[in-house]
Amino acid sequence: MIVCSCNVLSDRDVRGCLNPGADCPRTPAQVYRCLGCSAQCGRCARTIRKIMDATLPGIDPCAGCPAACETHHDEAMEHAG
Ligand code: FES
Repeated sequence: MIVCSCNVLSDRDVRGCLNPGADCPRTPAQVYRCLGCSAQCGRCARTIRKIMDATLPGIDPCAGCPAACETHHDEAMEHAG
């Protein structure tokens, strides 16, 4: 299933770059980079995060992430809301 229409990325593409280890992407932005592209509209970021959470349970996606990043902000809003 295509999860990012701007970059034509499938859920399989996203899972394929998630390998537990030191160089495993921790944020959607790192997933885009891993797959040789970058966020365009950003609408798929939450879906990519959900795939990451399901594929890599227990890994803190905000570890090493700046407090002002979009992902952190979205999570903060979810917790607040
Ligand atoms: S749908 Fe992924 S960047 Fe637009």
